[in-house]
Amino acid sequence: MAVKVAPSILSADFARLGEEVRAIDAAGADYIHIDVMDGHFVPNITIGPAVVKALRLHTTKIFDVHLMIDPVDPYIEAFAAAGADIITVHAEVGGHLDRTLQLIRSLGKKAGISLNPATPESVLDYILDRLDLILVMSVNPGFGGQAFIPSQLEKIRRIRAKIGSRPIELEVDGGVTPAVALECVEAGADVLVAGNAVFSGGSGQYAANIRALRA
Ligand code: DX5
Ligand code: ZN
Repeated sequence: MAVKVAPSILSADFARLGEEVRAIDAAGADYIHIDVMDGHFVPNITIGPAVVKALRLHTTKIFDVHLMIDPVDPYIEAFAAAGADIITVHAEVGGHLDRTLQLIRSLGKKAGISLNPATPESVLDYILDRLDLILVMSVNPGFGGQAFIPSQLEKIRRIRAKIGSRPIELEVDGGVTPAVALECVEAGADVLVAGNAVFSGGSGQYAANIRALRA
């Protein structure tokens, strides 16, 4: 199956977010990747449920909501109500991951888990059957435009083997450019998140940028 591309709106023009989401929808985005940061789990603050809700009116595409927040449990219902389709939490947050994943599915949403570059894939061993998506961070989360960390390719390979025949998507996020996209797919990634690589050159370029990632 063809690789999916999930543009990260972190690299969009925040003053024109609705328009930007419509532009990447028209340009062929599979998912809309929404990076939520709290200034605590990561050293940056971005957007909350109110913005997700406002953007919901601009596209019917899947909202792939990446929560880089700790604590995360108190906010999951709000993101679900705002229109998230996939809700991904970090393995490194404090609390009870197994319970958090059950909470997400109990709200009728797809449950994802994200691993920072230093986090080993063994954290997945006892929660695989609660997962719809695994997100491998190929940068340290917090900012767009960082360089891809090559050691994560081996992690993608190992996770692909762990997934086996389960219906779990494997997503890679951070520093993904056309230059590394093929290696990510060969290692086993199904979904490529890309911020700068999609949003560079203005909206006239978005479709070509997405095609370049798929090529
Ligand atoms: C990083 C975010 C990523 C990132 C992607 O914390 O989770 O989604 O913004 O942007 P690029 O592709 O520019 O690294
Ligand atoms: Zn992300």
